Amino acid sequence: MKSYKIALLLVPLALLVTACGPLGWGGSLFGRYRSNGERIYFTGTSANGPIRYSGGVTGGMMGGGMMGSGGQLACADCHGPDGRGGRHLMHMTVMDAPDIRWSTLSGAEHGGEEMDHPPYTPETFKQAVTQGLEPDGNRLDPAMPRWQMSDKDLDDLLEFLKSLK
Ligand code: HEC
Repeated sequence: MKSYKIALLLVPLALLVTACGPLGWGGSLFGRYRSNGERIYFTGTSANGPIRYSGGVTGGMMGGGMMGSGGQLACADCHGPDGRGGRHLMHMTVMDAPDIRWSTLSGAEHGGEEMDHPPYTPETFKQAVTQGLEPDGNRLDPAMPRWQMSDKDLDDLLEFLKSLK
């Protein structure tokens, strides 16, 4: 009888603890990310604040915060939380964002299809992100924003892409 009452008491307590777990006391929003690279990927914000970019779908009418947080786009918004890319309806057009897991970028195949350019190296990856250039020098579609990121942030981001399976 006694233990029954204790159990009843424990239920609301457990619910309270669960509800406050991930985002509640002590955990700031950024505390959820294990690394600077992961934070950049999901929020477009590094340890030094929001990352500036040009182009992308926000270049035009999308600045009003229709996506992501307050209009700040992040890689995950287009390339997906798992980096595998996907097809989105954006700006009234269909956009195909490629798989950017490092295993894919540095491999010879892209989602089962043969790539039309040489595999990425860390250097050409940085060029793609900051200048929108493929390894063979072709320009990426303007749907892919050009990011102004420090070398350290790029390294951190690359580290994170390597961790995506
Ligand atoms: C607004 C949507 C959008 C966002 C945000 C975005 N991308 Fe892209 N990205 C694209 C699209 C679309 C392409 C394909 C462009 C093309 O095919 O020419 C692309 C291409 C790329 C490529 C080249 C892949 C390949 O196969 O050649 C890399 C690398 C890349 N993105 C990395 C990133 C990283 C890192 C971020 C975050 C810092 C990011 N992208 C954010 C849309 C986006």
